[in-house]
Amino acid sequence: MDADITLHVDGRPRQVTVDTRTTLLDALRERLGVISPKKGCDHGQCGACTVLLDGRRVLSCLVLAVTRNGHEVTTADGLAPAGALHPVQQAFLDHDGYQCGYCTPGQVCSAVGVLDELDAGWASIVTPDGAEPHLDDEEVAERMSGNLCRCGAYAGIRAAVTSAGGAR
Ligand code: FES
Ligand code: FES
Repeated sequence: MDADITLHVDGRPRQVTVDTRTTLLDALRERLGVISPKKGCDHGQCGACTVLLDGRRVLSCLVLAVTRNGHEVTTADGLAPAGALHPVQQAFLDHDGYQCGYCTPGQVCSAVGVLDELDAGWASIVTPDGAEPHLDDEEVAERMSGNLCRCGAYAGIRAAVTSAGGAR
């Protein structure tokens, strides 16, 4: 069965007719030509398809597009609408947080999600010794653990997220 839906993608309303079984990832890539979210596993295991849905990070391969009619989707492209890089994107550049780049749009969206979750109080950093909470390498590794990088650029990715987090 088909359904007519509108997705607000990177600030633009986009109308599309989708089979009700179509994932958000397939709607973006194959129906709307929005290709920065990547299809790695298509099973919720790699994070390459991560986008921000109403401001929160989701795996778009696990979301049915028809269930998000009228919602806001932000991809890595939408983080730099006027060509000026988002601070997290700049941090990935500054810290060599990528090699092939395939996982990078998902990594960047996930990193923005991590920092926004902390800023909004949806998540908090727990320090057992009572020290001031801070976003260190270990904390970033845990919070970014849903995003795999086959190139092994993890050190640069963690450095980028830690740096961007510290600058907020
Ligand atoms: Fe969605 Fe791998 S393509 S998690
Ligand atoms: Fe190649 Fe991460 S930069 S998979």
